[in-house]
Amino acid sequence: MNPVIVTIDGPSGAGKSTITKQLAAELLFTYLDTGAMYRAVGLKIHRTGTNLDDRNGLQKLLDTIDLRLVPDGDGTRVLLNNEDVSEAIRTPEMSMIASRVSADKLVREKLTLLQRNVGQKGSIVAEGRDMGTVVFPKANHKFFLDASPEERARRRQKQLAEQGQEVDYKETLEQIIKRDKDDSSRALSPLKPAEDAIIIDSSEMTIDEVVDFMVKYIQR
Ligand code: DC
Repeated sequence: MNPVIVTIDGPSGAGKSTITKQLAAELLFTYLDTGAMYRAVGLKIHRTGTNLDDRNGLQKLLDTIDLRLVPDGDGTRVLLNNEDVSEAIRTPEMSMIASRVSADKLVREKLTLLQRNVGQKGSIVAEGRDMGTVVFPKANHKFFLDASPEERARRRQKQLAEQGQEVDYKETLEQIIKRDKDDSSRALSPLKPAEDAIIIDSSEMTIDEVVDFMVKYIQR
């Protein structure tokens, strides 16, 4: 039987990670966090001081990168050359760096290949920005998860506080608006719903309500 592909795209803070993890657990599918992959590549580029204008250097970095996502409970650990960078990639600084490197053609080509490989191995729920539009255009079920920027900033602030990072609400909101603008206006794989995606606004919905809706939709 062919693997079943479910895609969940949408802006940051719309609840994608929590919802994708929960949905994957309910369906017994693999959870694919593609944002974590962009973050890990961003971390490597940042640490090595690679300039995105140095195309040969960047290509070499991408050819030799050892990036692995290892299932861990309902989530994933991210291993970069065997180092667990799961926490290091989650800082506000890394969010901005990941957004910047994700506009690069070589980076997107490399990660698109890695993501499709995972999708060939078994059924997945994949979260990101271009899952339904570019990486898995023939996915069996596509969702686009949205929420107001204010609600997303509140959620992001709470999530970071739970990890022990105190951030300012106004600054978080400004970063979310900037990141949305950058992610949606870039030339390559911009953030937008696939034409055949179901759009869900989660501003007024609980996580369980969204997941229930998705499960019913998939099993209908
Ligand atoms: O979902 P996230 O916040 O962890 O993603 C980090 C950055 O990576 C985000 O700014 C956009 C980018 N990204 C992307 O361009 N394409 C994806 N499929 C996933 C993430």
